[in-house]
Formats: sequence, C-alpha cells, structure tokens
Amino acid sequence: MLDPSGPAARDIAFVWWGMLTFFTLVFGVVVALWLAAFRRHEHRERSEGEVRRLSRRWIIGGGLLLPGVTILVLLVFGVPVGQRMLTLPLPGGEDPRVIEVIGHQWWWEVRYPDTGDGEVVTANQLVMPVGEPVDFHVSAGDVIHAFWIPRLGGKIDMLPGRVNRIRLQADQPGVFGGQCAEFCGTQHAHMKLYVEAMPPADFDTWLSARQAPANVGDDEQHQVAREAFAQHCAQCHRVAGVSQATVGPDLSDVGSRPTLGAGVMAMEDGAIARWLAVHQRLKPGNLMPVHDQLDAETLEDLGNWLETLNP
Ligand code: CUA
Repeated sequence: MLDPSGPAARDIAFVWWGMLTFFTLVFGVVVALWLAAFRRHEHRERSEGEVRRLSRRWIIGGGLLLPGVTILVLLVFGVPVGQRMLTLPLPGGEDPRVIEVIGHQWWWEVRYPDTGDGEVVTANQLVMPVGEPVDFHVSAGDVIHAFWIPRLGGKIDMLPGRVNRIRLQADQPGVFGGQCAEFCGTQHAHMKLYVEAMPPADFDTWLSARQAPANVGDDEQHQVAREAFAQHCAQCHRVAGVSQATVGPDLSDVGSRPTLGAGVMAMEDGAIARWLAVHQRLKPGNLMPVHDQLDAETLEDLGNWLETLNP
C-alpha cells in the first residue's frame, strides 16, 4: 500500500502519509499537554466563573474546533481521492475496459465481458493492461468479500446482488498481490488474487488466446482423464467447449495459472494432482468435495490433463 504503482494507490498513500504526519503532531500535542499537567501542579484556587470559562474554552476548542478542522482537512484531501476512483466518463469520451470480479468462498472469478460470445472467464488471476484505466465491476456469489490490490488501490466491498465499481490503473507492468479484505469464512486468508499488468498489446494477445474453446488436445493419452472429468468434475467446473458448469472455478486455462487454490500453492509439474489428492488438508473447509473414489493414478491423469489446459 505504501509502494503505490497506480494513480489510485498513489492518492491513497498520499492521504495516508498526510494523516500519519498530522496525527503524529496531534499525538505530540496531547502528550505535551499531559506532561505539562504534571509539571504545573500548583494549587491555585479558581473562582467558579473562571473554571466554567476555562472548561468552555477547552470544550469548544478541543472538542469542536480541532476535530472540525481536522475532518475538514481530511475531506479536502479525501473526497477528490475517492472521486478519482469513480467510474465516471473519461474526458476523451472512450469507454475504459471493464473487468468483472466476483468473490466466492474462497476464490475469485474474473470475467472479461467485452469479449463477446467467447466470453473469457478465469479464476484467481487477474490480467490487465498497463497504462490505461480499467473499470472493475465487483460483486459476490455468496457472502460479502472485499476487492483489494494494495499497490493499485481499493479496497471496495463485494456484495451479493449488487455491483460496485472502482477504477484502477497500473502504471508499470508487473505482478501485484491482491487479497480479500473482508472476513468471509475460515479460508478468508487463503483468498489471494494474482494480478498481472502487461502492455496492452500483450494483454490483447493473452485475451484472444482465451476466446477459443479450451486447448484440450485430442490425443489418446488423456482419454481416461477426460472421462474422469466428465464424470466427477464437469458438474461444477467449466472448461470452454467441454462443460458449462459455474459452481467452482472455470478451468479453461488452469494450466497457465501461477497458483492453485487462490494462492495456496504454486503451479508446477504435478501440482494439480497433488491438490486434487490433499486439497482439504491444504485448504481445510474449501467447498470442493473430496474425491477419494478416484485412485491415485486417475487423479494423476486428471492433473496431467488439466495442466495441459493452457492456451
Ligand atoms: Cu473473501 Cu475474505
């Protein structure tokens, strides 16, 4: 959050430093007054009128004026910061790209609605173009989550049945961490989002590669895996061109993702098979049932096939 990489995050960091400075000052004044109260401990009789006048002065000054001025200063800096994250029309008249992010227990659904018929859907990874504003339309599928990419800005609540909007921009290409910022159940901490900002041309390539049916291959060696998928996975997971369910994460490009289980483990050879075998130990309480009716060999076939789903 203190290493901003976009205008929204920079604004927030600026306000944060301003607040830290100002409140350190306030703290210093309070401590100084407190110490002074110890030092000047002489007993001086004050008339009742004098006491009343002094009290009034402190109440008006310290209780009304000081907080009033403080809040006013914060508003002057804070309101424009919030304003710049609103999804207002751009000066040039063009529409920013829209990316939809939906929070689930405990993973992120990411949709690219501008991609038309072959709508691109992915999970737990958010790829965005660099150097241009992106409007995020966020909501939730079950309970309240919150969308937060500290180095880019946010956070904003993700509510079931309501779409909240926030405009963020990444100034340089790179990978940023995202994290659910609203307690949403036992695996709230394991609700990480891998955010990658890339040059617009690379982003378009990334996106168009995913607009086709998933690259499932047709060689014989994955036949067992594809049958196991149809029988045990297709009721919950979508693989473009193979299955349409939307209960769990879309797996159309799962082999290209950097992590598994919303950041629980890195994607590497054999990772998916391992995840399938022990996911309840890696992420206890996650909503995918244990598939102990499948033997280790089938799980391995399944994992190997899923790893090839890479556009
Ligand atoms: Cu989702 Cu916390």
